[in-house]
Amino acid sequence: MHIGIPRERRQGEARVAVTPDTVRRYVAAGHVVTVESGAGAAAHYTDDAYVAAGAGLGDAMAAFGADLLLKVRAPLPEEDAALRRGSVLVGLLDPFDTTGLARLAATGVTAFALEAAPRITRAQSLDVLSSQANVAGYKAVLLATQHYGRFMPMLMTAAGTVKAARVVVLGAGVAGLQAIATARRLGAVVEASDVRPAAREQVESLGAKFIDVPFETDEEREIAEGVGGYARPMPAAWMQRQAARVAERCRQADIVITTALIPGRPAPQLISAETVAAMRPGAVIVDLAIERGGNCPLSRADTVVEHGGVILLAPSNLPALVPTDASALYARNLFEFTRLITGADGALAIAREDEIVAACLVCENGTVTRGG
Ligand code: NAI
Repeated sequence: MHIGIPRERRQGEARVAVTPDTVRRYVAAGHVVTVESGAGAAAHYTDDAYVAAGAGLGDAMAAFGADLLLKVRAPLPEEDAALRRGSVLVGLLDPFDTTGLARLAATGVTAFALEAAPRITRAQSLDVLSSQANVAGYKAVLLATQHYGRFMPMLMTAAGTVKAARVVVLGAGVAGLQAIATARRLGAVVEASDVRPAAREQVESLGAKFIDVPFETDEEREIAEGVGGYARPMPAAWMQRQAARVAERCRQADIVITTALIPGRPAPQLISAETVAAMRPGAVIVDLAIERGGNCPLSRADTVVEHGGVILLAPSNLPALVPTDASALYARNLFEFTRLITGADGALAIAREDEIVAACLVCENGTVTRGG
């Protein structure tokens, strides 16, 4: 099969869908790989490294002309004309973006959105949400430290003692747990909150304190369990109690990292403007939920906002700030997925009965097959 890797043209997207390592694997499996010249440059993978791994180089037309297109992000509207009817596209296509999917479907491509893979054990090796959220959680802490005017660890020096930073993490999924681990490695005192009861043990196992918001009804407990590993919107009464607890903890915090998301919905608002106003000057908030509206109403995508001395950051694409490793992990996820749509002879063979393949299929024969 001919596999094409066009250069990502979206503003700020530094990742690439293949690395020399995965090119080698595709070539070993009998595929022909065409990488658009310069596709890996922003992630520090050179054209020469791709050629040494067995890829051919070409222009955008050559890459888009392949049977299977591997991308990081969905094509931009101006790239639609390059998509061939009947070719297969795999990437982070945002299964909840109904407008984008309708546009994509109109090109006639068969498209797979990897974010839609179910959270089952067999899908772990191709779980792009986990691989990229892990990167985001790590980088969020480093970003916070850049804007924070103090040390993270406790230091005892001849010139005086420095207190350890207090970090609050809201949402302890993959990104939140990595943020906790990273902040702990830097010596911060960390506490974290999540709606799912299973998160408590994970938070505590990383040496952080769990911010408890006890359930008062069976309904609250049942909703909090979530579905398929994901959270669901909590009842208003629980959210109010959580907001009060969060406000109390944020007042003491130096850095707050928020990662709370509910699939297909606006992000829950966990930090009110009043809470921000009550925080210490110099405190830093990093809002990772900005792509779904943010966990704080004051967050502005990719803009540093200062509110009463509190610094708010809302980077919309943190994995792209760690492009080499984020690409390496993503490229392995993609490689694992392509095995599910390839036959033993190396030709395209879409295993529709496979629950991972079926869940990821978003466009086929000109129509959107999933989304919303
Ligand atoms: P996510 O990115 O959808 O959400 C982030 C976190 O926000 C979640 O932990 C969620 O519970 C939390 N959240 C939502 N509303 C909240 C609120 N009001 N207050 C506080 N927290 C709130 O979640 P992510 O990171 O994708 O992980 C979800 C789950 O999936 C985790 O339990 C993870 O361990 C599990 N998982 C399972 C895998 C498997 O193969 N079995 C693979 C990867 C993750």
